[in-house]
Amino acid sequence: MLNDVDRIFTNLYGRHDPFLAGARKRGDWDGTKDILARGQEAIIEEIKAAGLRGRGGAGFPAGVKWSFMPKQEGPRPHYLVVNADEGEPGTCKDRDILRHDPHKLVEGCLIAGFAMRAHVAYIYIRGEFFREAEALQRAIDEAYDAGLIGPDSCGSGWQMDVYLHRGAGAYICGEETALLQSLEGKKGQPRLKPPFPAGVGLYGCPTTVNNVETIACAPTILRRGGDWFAALGRPNNSGTKIFCISGHVNRPCNVEEEMGIPLRELIERHAGGVRGGWDNLLAIIPGGASVPLLPKSICDDVLMDFDSLKEVRSGLGTAAVMVMDKSTDVVRAIHRLSQFYKHESCGQCTPCREGTGWLMRVMERLVSGEAEVEEIDLLEEVTRQIEGHTICALGDAAAWPIQGLIRHFRPELERRILARKRRISPGAAA
Ligand SMILES: Cc1cc2nc3c(=O)[nH]c(=O)nc-3n(C[C@H](O)[C@H](O)[C@H](O)COP(=O)(O)O)c2cc1C
Ligand code: SF4
Repeated sequence: MLNDVDRIFTNLYGRHDPFLAGARKRGDWDGTKDILARGQEAIIEEIKAAGLRGRGGAGFPAGVKWSFMPKQEGPRPHYLVVNADEGEPGTCKDRDILRHDPHKLVEGCLIAGFAMRAHVAYIYIRGEFFREAEALQRAIDEAYDAGLIGPDSCGSGWQMDVYLHRGAGAYICGEETALLQSLEGKKGQPRLKPPFPAGVGLYGCPTTVNNVETIACAPTILRRGGDWFAALGRPNNSGTKIFCISGHVNRPCNVEEEMGIPLRELIERHAGGVRGGWDNLLAIIPGGASVPLLPKSICDDVLMDFDSLKEVRSGLGTAAVMVMDKSTDVVRAIHRLSQFYKHESCGQCTPCREGTGWLMRVMERLVSGEAEVEEIDLLEEVTRQIEGHTICALGDAAAWPIQGLIRHFRPELERRILARKRRISPGAAA
């Protein structure tokens, strides 16, 4: 269990003053000038040593990503873009950072921006986050007024400007290149990669896109040292993480914990356990809607980090843990996710545009058992044709929950089909 002294987000629950005076008491903006004085390379090396992996879903090492930015300031400006779109179903952690600890993000923008030689950071915030945008703008204004950012940030001589940009609430605008398109005022549709944003990003300039939590962790890591962060969790899966626990638990919550905490301990210690007890558990989606669900047998002892969840063919994703007890119609739950992906597909690539609708319609029939048993294999086959064959990972996200359902709940799918056959023609189904 994470010790209180190792917590980064000490105002996650908004019990204290979120703004500058309170933030300073919590240690924010302490010695920022000295951190900048270490120089760009030293900052990037420290983040690499910490082993901080991106908190937006894919888990790419943050220090490595920052090092892809050109080492010299050229004619094209560099940009840091912070992804505050938080659209992944089940995920509600960035909004608490924005509401209750916004200075962690503003300070992170300065440090990360400086490290990648960017003088401008754009924070792209989900349109529905109205109060969060208000809180963040107030923190940005306070930072300008106190000289923490602006023409001479913290007296370092580095110019840093931070702009908040409100999106209009489309899931696809959380995908980093769609986000850049949207920020440029265009339709939010993902771009083909390569070129990657570090080469050709916002307005064709070198850009790094990072999640809110990733950037907000950086100042504390630099103050306490990469070694401190790396000592938490397991190798390659280090640090602390905000988990969002929802669904059939007694006390849904957001909680910062050490990476690698056993899933069962996470739920029992912080969320009051599964409704009706652990044995009443059916399945858990461990990392936001896009990752495959896990049946109870795996949940019993799986650890909550990137590599452990990958080993059981799921993923940590955004660490949004959605708990389903035995009262859940698991087929209907996954069908609901299929509806979501169909609705959110931007329509650029055929496998996703056509496939998400196809998956949704088959899932709809599987809910009532109105299908043939052979269609389960066909459904799986179609998910394989979508996965990896699209411009962005929304196609994968639509495929994976269904693959998880088939992998772990095929008998339930078959049972429904046979039960329906028996109902409509008794004696026909064996
Ligand atoms: C469909 C889709 C939606 C996404 N939505 C978000 C989001 O809301 N917030 C976010 O941080 N990352 C989101 N991502 C991941 C981003 O593309 C990107 O990987 C991330 O912002 C990088 O930040 P990180 O390296 O700090 O994790 C999404 C990806 C996809 C494919
Ligand atoms: S995978 Fe889907 S959402 Fe992504 S670019 Fe293609 S059509 Fe758009």
